[in-house]
Amino acid sequence: MIAPPVENEVVAVVQAAIDKHGKKRDALIPILSEVNKKLGYIPGEAFRAIQQMLHNPAEQVRISEGQLYGLASFYDMLSTKPRGKHVIKFCENAPCHVVGGKAVWDALREKLNLNNGGTTLDSKWTLVTTSCIGLCSVGPVLLIDDDMYGNVTPEQISDILKHYE
Ligand code: FES
Repeated sequence: MIAPPVENEVVAVVQAAIDKHGKKRDALIPILSEVNKKLGYIPGEAFRAIQQMLHNPAEQVRISEGQLYGLASFYDMLSTKPRGKHVIKFCENAPCHVVGGKAVWDALREKLNLNNGGTTLDSKWTLVTTSCIGLCSVGPVLLIDDDMYGNVTPEQISDILKHYE
């Protein structure tokens, strides 16, 4: 299992993200993305640290932890729960579905023994669905971390996963 980050590490990551993107409202998503990238997800302590460090009356930046959490929950690319070392994002929209997406999704779930949003016990894989990623012409489509796979068939799943062993 991957150990959760200690609070000092979280604060340091948040501070670096704010230093990089600035204390302004426009920077909220870049800051959350940066924290997510560095820690693999956005833990509760990070929302608290962002809220406290971003407080900037001069720029009228006042945002609650709850609002930050809501923002992070809204975007597929961000996670409020620990994720596995590799994240598989499977496109669940209709154009991918009608060209065989359901069978690919079933094969993935069966191979990893996971449901949507689940992480394997060894923290290696997290499986999530995502909305259209703009590659409908080569559906069914999945992303593993930053790697894109198109025209995926159920038979290819084992070989694709082997690339990450
Ligand atoms: S519907 Fe799957 S990539 Fe567009």
